[in-house]
Amino acid sequence: MIDFHTHVLPGIDDGSRNIGMTEAMLREESAQGTGIVVATPHFYANSMSVQKFLDKRQAAFEETERLRETLPEGSLPQLMTGAEVYYFEGMGDAEMLPRLTIEGTDTILVEMPFAQWTKEVCRDIEHIIRKQKLRVVLAHVERYDEFQKDRSAWDEVFSLPLIPQINTGSFIKKKTGLFRTDKKRKFAMQFLKTHPDMILGSDCHNMEGRRPNLKAGREEIAAAFGDEALERIDRTTREVLGL
Ligand SMILES: [Fe+2]
Repeated sequence: MIDFHTHVLPGIDDGSRNIGMTEAMLREESAQGTGIVVATPHFYANSMSVQKFLDKRQAAFEETERLRETLPEGSLPQLMTGAEVYYFEGMGDAEMLPRLTIEGTDTILVEMPFAQWTKEVCRDIEHIIRKQKLRVVLAHVERYDEFQKDRSAWDEVFSLPLIPQINTGSFIKKKTGLFRTDKKRKFAMQFLKTHPDMILGSDCHNMEGRRPNLKAGREEIAAAFGDEALERIDRTTREVLGL
């Protein structure tokens, strides 16, 4: 199992607050059967230079890797470094994007605006794919749907050759009131039906409200669509990571 979207590195964003929490999160990933965790800390182009981000990420990564020295072999999953790059205007032509791809790949995880997408947004995403020749994975696609009253930009974005990622938590049943439907779950299930070549991530931030939950989400998918759906997702994920 691969967790493609996580905030497990300590002290770099709003994810793990310290190395103790990082250890707990990674042990939990292992306990659930996750073999590879992609660490994707938030990158905001308007608040930090790429170099500063990469330096901070490297330090947090090395601190995390040192955990292995004191633990029995195989206690922690393999770590790959990446970033969750928040959309910014002109992103399509930004020369620094290749520096923010997932380790050893030409794949970039993009977080889209939490607002109505515009023509400019579509053009930027298209340029990342067609001009910069990078592979785009769109982070947690279920979180933008409610902002897209005008569906034309949404349709245009999803007509591009990109790979959607959904958070496993969105597949998990939540307690809702009697007359409230779980909209995110409904969306996630529906989306998977029409986009079977997608990727899963827990988008875990901590050991409280946003814990690693890859296993529970996968079980919901297997129950609804069978193991073949997960096999297809795993194939897509390995392919995108060059594994
Ligand atoms: Fe995230």
